Amino acid sequence: MKTLLVTGGAGFIGSNFVHYVLEHTEMSVTVLDKLTYAGNLASLEGLPAERFTFVRGDICDAGLVDSLVAGVDAVVHYAAESHNDNSLQDPRPFLETNIIGTYTLIEAARKHGKRFHHISTDEVYGDLELDDPQRFTEETAYAPSSPYSSTKAGSDMLVRAWVRSFGLAATLSNCSNNYGPYQHVEKFIPRQITNVIDGIRPKLYGAGENVRDWIHADDHSSAVLAILERGRIGETYLIGADGEKNNKDVVELILSMMGQAPDAYDHVIDRPGHDLRYAIESSKLRTELGWEPEFANFDAGLAETIKWYREHEGWWRPQKAATEAKYKEQGQ
Ligand code: NAD
Ligand code: DAU
Repeated sequence: MKTLLVTGGAGFIGSNFVHYVLEHTEMSVTVLDKLTYAGNLASLEGLPAERFTFVRGDICDAGLVDSLVAGVDAVVHYAAESHNDNSLQDPRPFLETNIIGTYTLIEAARKHGKRFHHISTDEVYGDLELDDPQRFTEETAYAPSSPYSSTKAGSDMLVRAWVRSFGLAATLSNCSNNYGPYQHVEKFIPRQITNVIDGIRPKLYGAGENVRDWIHADDHSSAVLAILERGRIGETYLIGADGEKNNKDVVELILSMMGQAPDAYDHVIDRPGHDLRYAIESSKLRTELGWEPEFANFDAGLAETIKWYREHEGWWRPQKAATEAKYKEQGQ
């Protein structure tokens, strides 16, 4: 595998993956990205020009997708509408990009006989009780809660159907919550870090008991690369780094690390249908492909992320005011 088409490569996880691949392999990468509000070309600065090409376009554009897929060895599909809160305000773009966009890509991959890797989320499995000893596995039944997660579940089903019905050479991965550089300020961790920088009190939805299973974006990238290179066709791999923490603990940690009183945050209106807990059992990936996370210490990874946002204000500042204005309208 020498050439990759990475969709959504100007977004948070896609851009981290592009940096990771160009640093750790000899492969060349073409990014296809629509540059929605979530895409940022500044996240792709400094990449080696001879191995990197950027194409602005929509994954729903069948002609463009067909010509790009024809020219590469494999497709890694990150592009999506990714934010739950937005999906509750306006679901339509989620159906278009996550469902029709995925369909458009797998049709092209089928036609040209190309290897395909589909990036998905643990949210397709719904949520767990706080005291449930079980975690999500590859066998857990799908039970998505939000417009976002239901469209991701739909896209997973399309990829699985194309494997079975058409022999598409695809793998899938469902990962837990990522943190790290280049994440949009609408998301939980960057929102609170940049709020503290701006002297705004962090905002916790509801009581803050909801648990997310945090993984550093670089660990997500190394797992995807392992699956792309050594994963079994047709298989799904769950990606997680045993990083369960509730939101209240994360906000308090951010405040302490940034020199503030740990209780200097506000409780705001809860997210409708808010999933209580996600937790990933990733032993299939670890035993079959020998993958292990490098960022085993969440506190150290979070401190590094806080440092990154402090040092890259020019990257996030243009989005901050509009993002907070939108949240304010929603009472959040
Ligand atoms: P993001 O919102 O930061 O980035 C999405 C990117 O896709 C943006 O660059 C955007 O411009 C692009 N895009 C959107 N619609 C497009 C279209 N129609 N055509 C082309 N490009 C389009 O998202 P993210 O957090 O980086 O998530 C990337 C993928 O990883 C998604 O598929 C998401 O479901 C999955 N995922 C995310 C997480 C997480 O914690 N963020 C965890 C597991 C899985
Ligand atoms: O689990 C993987 C998923 O993680 C991905 O599929 C999604 O694309 C990604 O956005 C993320 O979804 P979440 O909804 O878990 O992430 P978010 O950053 O929006 O919120 C994390 C938790 O923090 C969630 O319980 C809601 C809460 N929250 C969020 C914001 C923005 C707050 O308490 N306050 C906030 O201001």
